[in-house]
Amino acid sequence: MQVEQEVLGKVSPTAERRDAIQRTVRSLLETVRKEADARDLGLEVMLVGSVAKDTYLNDPDIDVFVLFPELISRNKLEKTGLDIGRRTLTKVEERYAEHPYIHGEWEGLEVDLVPCYHIKDPQCLRSAVDRTPFHTRYVQSHLGEGQKGEVRLLKRFAKGVGVYGAEARVQGFSGYLLEILVMKYGSFRAVLEHASEWKKGVTLGLEEDQGKRFQDPLVFYDPVDRGRNVASALSANSFALFIHAAREYLKAPSERFFFPSPREPLSVEDIRKAVAERGTGMVVVELDRPDLIDDNLYPQARKSLDGLAALLASYDFTVLDKTFHIGDRIRFVIELRSLTLPRAARHNGPPAWIDNASSFLEKWKGAGLSEPFLENGHWSVMVRREHTGPKSLIEAKFSSAGLGSDLRDLKGLRVETGEMAISERNRAALSLLLDKRKNWEV
Ligand code: CTP
Ligand code: MN
Repeated sequence: MQVEQEVLGKVSPTAERRDAIQRTVRSLLETVRKEADARDLGLEVMLVGSVAKDTYLNDPDIDVFVLFPELISRNKLEKTGLDIGRRTLTKVEERYAEHPYIHGEWEGLEVDLVPCYHIKDPQCLRSAVDRTPFHTRYVQSHLGEGQKGEVRLLKRFAKGVGVYGAEARVQGFSGYLLEILVMKYGSFRAVLEHASEWKKGVTLGLEEDQGKRFQDPLVFYDPVDRGRNVASALSANSFALFIHAAREYLKAPSERFFFPSPREPLSVEDIRKAVAERGTGMVVVELDRPDLIDDNLYPQARKSLDGLAALLASYDFTVLDKTFHIGDRIRFVIELRSLTLPRAARHNGPPAWIDNASSFLEKWKGAGLSEPFLENGHWSVMVRREHTGPKSLIEAKFSSAGLGSDLRDLKGLRVETGEMAISERNRAALSLLLDKRKNWEV
């Protein structure tokens, strides 16, 4: 296939590049090993990730794990792991996923140096990353030489489509998941052909499948730990987008799936036109961005967006669409059917024959926009709505909505609606909601 040959040429490292990376890795491992040996703790140093598996794309990060005997305390593992990283790498940054690790550089390449436990059985983890050495060895021994290019194509495809990475920001396919998909089906093409037939809940494995059931959209039993779903981080949307992209690509293969054009935000003028044509109401709610890593921030933003939409719906606003954008600030964008509700709302009460009907009557006598009235034997009354627009409602009630824990104090809250919301500052966020083109359609 012409397109795939072209792409393969672009994503495969040249022989020189490969050699250079090998040399860099050798000198890095040597240095880390010296640092590790000096501690006299029985540490092992292992190259993991895509460089170890030879499935990396052009600018790889080097993933190095330091394996600690299980007897060593968690605290000591973290301290020593970080210290080894700090002493070896340059431009170091302490980062953490489930536990801290060091990100830095070695001879111009990015490196993650991660401490983990040297466990015997991948089903008995001591820390979240202890399976990684098993994954690396599994791929090294099971992925055919001829399949490495297929993995590179598939990784580039998933990246282009926007579903590469298991991190919370993306909720997509990890490199390891794509590697075992190629093992399962044999080639890039075969993965797409099968994916275009996937249904929600499709269950895959490389060895005998085991009983454990998962509710996830895609289940791929981990060949090194059958009790785990490798695709557990995949959202229904990323799963669906991959299926759709696979179908579209097979119909009309193009490099645009692998290397999409950059997407420019719509101009303020175009946003204004689009919103005017729809006749809907835009709401932008801004908050200060808390100082959290993406893996913590994105789930909180998603939860808060749902909370905001639920709040609006419970006050009779009709939410047509919603999204959020994280830049210098967090912006929630809500598209409402209408920005205004009438002053009157109907409030339904009890049937007239039950005992506490009288308390309903007492409460609403002379207090609503109508006297209580009967319909099919039930009392109703027209009442005065407190919030006829979303702005006052959100300002008054957002704090009681379901919010991410670090967003609960609503620092820097700003609510803009309608014409006020359409501004240069909100351009990127509004574009995200309005521009529904897929990456390969841009
Ligand atoms: N890993 C980890 N913590 C890190 C970095 C990596 O646990 N801070 C583990 C991941 O779980 C994965 C492996 O190390 O199993 C490599 O991670 P990553 O670099 O994301 O994937 P690769 O397979 O190397 O793919 P690529 O770098 O090409 O995207
Ligand atoms: Mn990597």
